[in-house]
Amino acid sequence: MNKKTILSGIQATGNLTLGNYLGALNNWVEMQEEYDCYYMIADLHTLTIRNDPETLRKNTLELIALYVAAGLDPEKNTIFVQSHIPAHTQLSWVLNCYTYMGELNRMTQFKDKAAKHADNINSGLFTYPVLMAADILLYNADLVPVGEDQRQHLEITRDIAERFNSIYGETFKIPDAYIAKIGAKIMGLQNPTSKMSKSAPDPMDKILLTDTPDDIRKKFKKAVTDSENCVRYDREAKPGVSNLMGIYGIIKNKTMEEIEKEFEGQGYGTFKSAVAEAVVERLEPIQNKHNELLENPEKIKEIYEMGDQKAAEKANKLIKEVYKKVGLVI
Ligand code: TRP
Repeated sequence: MNKKTILSGIQATGNLTLGNYLGALNNWVEMQEEYDCYYMIADLHTLTIRNDPETLRKNTLELIALYVAAGLDPEKNTIFVQSHIPAHTQLSWVLNCYTYMGELNRMTQFKDKAAKHADNINSGLFTYPVLMAADILLYNADLVPVGEDQRQHLEITRDIAERFNSIYGETFKIPDAYIAKIGAKIMGLQNPTSKMSKSAPDPMDKILLTDTPDDIRKKFKKAVTDSENCVRYDREAKPGVSNLMGIYGIIKNKTMEEIEKEFEGQGYGTFKSAVAEAVVERLEPIQNKHNELLENPEKIKEIYEMGDQKAAEKANKLIKEVYKKVGLVI
């Protein structure tokens, strides 16, 4: 009964890709038996960029449905909406006062995003990692499954938690990042040296979770490879083929050596269509379940209300303790 606690979340920006699924959701599903899991929709984080309000609402509900469609059992996991639990913003404020400008200035994601949204470098974007620290620390998470790009945010979370603990005594559990070996980073199909991104301008570079089987087949057919025509794993020399092998390996639960053997002596044509079929086969039932849920908004509400309640119970206890420690009258 002494399960470790896991917390993770995805922003409600819509258009999730195969990279989000294989790098996050698919791993979460595997963790639900072994851990006490909290999976949230990071809708407050989404406010750091400009959104159309109706679209944000729609994306949030769709993402909850997707969590469940991908295989997360709402009874076994705590699936909740970040903005529904006021303790996230409450703790975030407190932690802001224990985080230095210099630390936040070093965040590479802030620098990247500031460059990308030069017309909207708001302070939410700057303090984004502090809200993320609050998300994690509120639930005493032991492990935080995230992509490689979030590693620095985990490190600052640990630094903030340690600083607070050293002033006020043991309050927060110090979390570890949990970065899956393969699947942590699915690369673009056209640019296999950069991460498959939902914001990539080229639609051929990414597989969206809403893509039809025909879209998926077409995109894999056109995926960039190399001229060797040999299915061999080598991230440096053969980034395109290696990425496809990574995708196939996760879905089929096969090692790179096994895949090399399976396709020995066969060209890229056969290999690519095998990868495409594996992806289609995996996504189709998820898409069906997703559509089914979207037709039943009451069910979606039931799911997040159940999760919200469980999350609030835990979070409210911790925020009270923090308020008390820093000297607020509670
Ligand atoms: N910043 C994360 C991302 O973009 C999303 C996120 C928000 C998150 N809060 C979190 C992930 C807490 C893990 C834990 O991927």
